[in-house]
Amino acid sequence: AQNRLLIKNGKTVNENEIVEQDVYVEDGIIKQLGRNLLIPGGTRVIDARGKYVIPGGIDPHTHMQFEFMGTTSVDDFYQGTKAAVAGGTTMIIDFVVPKQGESILDSYYAWRQKADDKVCCDYGLHVALTSWNDKVKGEMKTLCEKHGVNSFKMFMAYDFYLKDDELYGAFQRCRELGALAQVHAENGLIIKKNVEKLKAFGVTGPEGHEMSRPECIEAEAVNRACVISKQVNAAICFDNISTGQSAEMIKKHQTPGATIYGTTLVSNLALVGDSQNMKTITSPPLRSNPDIPDQIWGYLASDVLQLTGSDHCTFTREQKEMGKGDFSKIPNGVNGVEDRMSVIWEKGVHSGIIDPCRYVAITSTNAAKLFNVYPRKGCIAVGSDADIVVWNPSKTRVISSKTHNIAIDFNIFEGMECHGVPEYVIVNGRVCVDEEQLRAVQGHGKFVETPCWAPFIYAPEKMDELTAPKNNGALNEIELTNKLAKIELEPKLCITPT
Ligand code: URP
Ligand code: ZN
Ligand code: ZN
Repeated sequence: AQNRLLIKNGKTVNENEIVEQDVYVEDGIIKQLGRNLLIPGGTRVIDARGKYVIPGGIDPHTHMQFEFMGTTSVDDFYQGTKAAVAGGTTMIIDFVVPKQGESILDSYYAWRQKADDKVCCDYGLHVALTSWNDKVKGEMKTLCEKHGVNSFKMFMAYDFYLKDDELYGAFQRCRELGALAQVHAENGLIIKKNVEKLKAFGVTGPEGHEMSRPECIEAEAVNRACVISKQVNAAICFDNISTGQSAEMIKKHQTPGATIYGTTLVSNLALVGDSQNMKTITSPPLRSNPDIPDQIWGYLASDVLQLTGSDHCTFTREQKEMGKGDFSKIPNGVNGVEDRMSVIWEKGVHSGIIDPCRYVAITSTNAAKLFNVYPRKGCIAVGSDADIVVWNPSKTRVISSKTHNIAIDFNIFEGMECHGVPEYVIVNGRVCVDEEQLRAVQGHGKFVETPCWAPFIYAPEKMDELTAPKNNGALNEIELTNKLAKIELEPKLCITPT
């Protein structure tokens, strides 16, 4: 029957182990694991011999149907999640980006409206703070308590960036609410000066984009956000680390007691930027320095960075042409939601940098943990949602815009051969890729609440640690309130294996 499924003879992969065992699914949930399971007659059987059975990918960084830079990204929540499923991703977390001054609550409702009836897989939402005031502060609480939002995004670039004191307030508010602060780290004011200067020198082509946003512009912002977050002991996650320089900065700040995570993007892990190509313009830029992908892989393998996203935000050739003669008007964003799983397998596992367990961690488990939907998502375990991919590591496919499922007329990974093919993709118990045939269903996905973490107060184990380096140089509120503050645990927001 449709609601029962046995995946036989495969190897399940979780972040910590690979086990030869079968997986029995009923009504969208993993019900049994093991060999020789007793299961009801009439159950559909999928043979996974020689294949891996992995948790569906979670892409924590997408922008479907996003009004941005005078146009709208063309993959909506239907086409974008259909493509996600085709590639082995079974949950996305998209960004609500309110217009400046708009109610963040209203903007959240608008995003739900865009997505709810369209999504082919489950989805969650982060909410960006594009202005900072008391109303925003109040609405953050409502979003956390009533609407299943546990992460807020602050841009340090674009017209809607937050100033340092606003970041301070926003980070502090996140900490009070038990939410995660996510950061797009690039120094927007300096980028603006660089753009003016380049234009004055007559630079108009796409090469101006990377020239205006060098690596140090990102690394400086990363450093600044780390310092500010430490002042208020907030947990932060950078959501598009594109250079070794900024990963090194994160590493420097990952001191005991600090809660700093980093997401990198599939494009940064796999591509070297061609500065003349307006189709690959995204921010931070794809770096033309050919050493960058190896550098980032190193930080991802060693857990300085923990997550991989796509930043899927697609504009057609024609939309990209809006920036002809003025590189600062090229709509920023590239594809990736469909190809992330294959490209990361190819560049990470097939090439021998990481093993399948780490692959599962960086494509699924860590995102589930960080956004607090683990172990419901992000693992193959009894009781978890049946979001499962049967991954065939010995098949290959070549990425091409001729066969992809997204709405644009090119693909930044065009021609890349990838070992590793999602033969079956099971979304909440339903087979949505069946022997490589896409059978995604509009509206099959649901909004998934990402509950807040317990609000955390940094608390040293011993009082004499109050002035030790562990307090990260923050004004210590426990001291300031004359030791009246209730001592709680270390920040609970933690994605290291328990
Ligand atoms: O260039 C990009 N990445 N566009 C989407 C907006 C953002 O910065 O995430
Ligand atoms: Zn961004
Ligand atoms: Zn983005």
